[in-house]
Amino acid sequence: MLKIIDDVEKMKVYARVMRKNGKMIGLVPTMGCLHEGHLSLMNAARKQTDIVVTSIFVNPIQFGQNEDFKKYPRDIKSDELIVKNLGVDVLFCPHQKDMYPKGYSTHVDVGKMGNLLCGRSRPGHFKGVATVVTKLFEIVKPDIAYFGQKDVQQAVIIRKMTNDLDMDVVIKVLPIIREKDGLAMSSRNTYLKKEERGQAVCLFTAINRARELFADGLRDTHKIIEEMKKVFEQKDLAKVEYINIVDMDTLKDLKTIKDKAVCALAVRIGKTRLIDNTILGVEDEQNAFQ
Ligand code: PAJ
Repeated sequence: MLKIIDDVEKMKVYARVMRKNGKMIGLVPTMGCLHEGHLSLMNAARKQTDIVVTSIFVNPIQFGQNEDFKKYPRDIKSDELIVKNLGVDVLFCPHQKDMYPKGYSTHVDVGKMGNLLCGRSRPGHFKGVATVVTKLFEIVKPDIAYFGQKDVQQAVIIRKMTNDLDMDVVIKVLPIIREKDGLAMSSRNTYLKKEERGQAVCLFTAINRARELFADGLRDTHKIIEEMKKVFEQKDLAKVEYINIVDMDTLKDLKTIKDKAVCALAVRIGKTRLIDNTILGVEDEQNAFQ
């Protein structure tokens, strides 16, 4: 039976009782408008833990002033049905006024890593993410928390944060789930108009180009990136924000790929900002983070 909890104190009590009873808790933090990407995290949690908690909270402090907080897609009724069918135990939907009451002032500083890649155009975003994830960890105290490689910088930063702050939680990062044509699933894909949706696959095309070049033995990141940029030249609706090939732990740019590396990109298709990535230099990308 799915339990829906919107009260922070009730969530803490429920999780405390479960832990006392020896149950392992898995947490899947989300902002809702659930799709197959989210589902893969919940399915893994269902297999690996006793009590699966999915949180839905559109976190205002990770959105910039001119970003889409207000129009971010919300569909709680459909989300409820999805998690129910998946056998999730608890849907935790806290209220903004309880997460950030008047006078709220404490934030998690993620350091320089938060200014790289997406952080360049989204200052403060990862501070907002790290803060809400820390709060969710404190409320639920999960044994394992599940994140997607889709948001690779987020995953690396959260993993680093839990190590740096000795948080007693295991972070699992699961592979990117894609549409049939390769577009990475995202709640923001709902913003794409028909023609934009057609062109949006170019992020995946660019990623495949990088994989091909890497497989052919190319290790010079500048050359790989230049080739990737060419993919976008014929796409009139696409505007590349960044393409970087970086170290998997530090997210710093690499000149040549020695071991494994993250190839990450952000592209605007019309007004919609999309991100995608791949991990080069691993035999099996499914287990790149383990
Ligand atoms: P949201 O965008 O809802 O994503 C929730 C989780 O689902 C994240 O860990 C994300 O990486 C994962 N995810 C999204 N699309 C995916 C896909 N196509 N394949 C695999 N996993 C995918 O990320 C957030 O919410 C927020 O920043 C949050 C962590 C909840 C903090 O507010």
